[in-house]
Amino acid sequence: MLKLEHINIFIQASHILRDVFLEVAEGEVVCLIGRNGAGKTTTLKTIMGFLSPQSGTIEFQKQDISGLPTYKIAQMGLGYMPGDGGIFTDLTVHENIEIGSWMRETSLTPEEKVRFAYQSFPLLEKYRSRKGDQVSGGERKMLAIARAFASDPTMLLLDEPFEGLSPVIIPGINEKIYESTKHGLSILIAESELHHVPEFTNTLYVIERGQIIFAGKPERVQHEEDIMRIIGGGATR
Ligand SMILES: Nc1ncnc2c1ncn2[C@@H]1O[C@H](COP(=O)(O)OP(=O)(O)O)[C@@H](O)[C@H]1O
Ligand SMILES: [Mg+2]
Repeated sequence: MLKLEHINIFIQASHILRDVFLEVAEGEVVCLIGRNGAGKTTTLKTIMGFLSPQSGTIEFQKQDISGLPTYKIAQMGLGYMPGDGGIFTDLTVHENIEIGSWMRETSLTPEEKVRFAYQSFPLLEKYRSRKGDQVSGGERKMLAIARAFASDPTMLLLDEPFEGLSPVIIPGINEKIYESTKHGLSILIAESELHHVPEFTNTLYVIERGQIIFAGKPERVQHEEDIMRIIGGGATR
């Protein structure tokens, strides 16, 4: 579905991503874990075309997407939830979800997409007339995920979806994510905390100083002492 090879990103004189590789198959959940500043957001922004790699290739559905403008990449079916959620605070919850549903044409009508997003996050329907800044931080995060769902993507990139969320609501969101993969959706999640890695994660990547230092089954990482020392203690902020 998605394949990154030898991605190098320089911002000014800094070498931010070093030979990054990553692969997500259809219906898979892949987690990219790394401390703050490791390069997770840069990786997702590069996939979405906000940054152009100086070298390397990015394939989505067997097409080279590196160098394509972001809107084209989104139209191809890549949904993106930025780290700050990117919610429009002067628009209502409902309008924010509608914007997601207009992102690209699929077999679903915009109305069906909105309904699907509400089905996944029923609480949001209750708040549909509230402005984006009249819901809690956790609800805004939920809204950002719902809006990404509403674009009816084939693959979703979620930048720290669980950060700042109450532990009580994370299992419910995970359930929705898991359900969506049953319909073939592929998901790439960036998180800074190992304990946020959902149990149904197929492959885990660990990034440190712009380099992938681990790729494999999540349960295998527990045995890698050097890597656990870096990510095991949770995020350093
Ligand atoms: N626009 C930018 N200009 C300069 N440095 C940047 C810029 N964006 C990110 N960086 C640097 O790139 C590194 C990776 O950042 P980022 O991808 O945001 O990390 P993460 O999402 O893992 O916390 C950090 O050292 C950060 O300071
Ligand atoms: Mg980040």
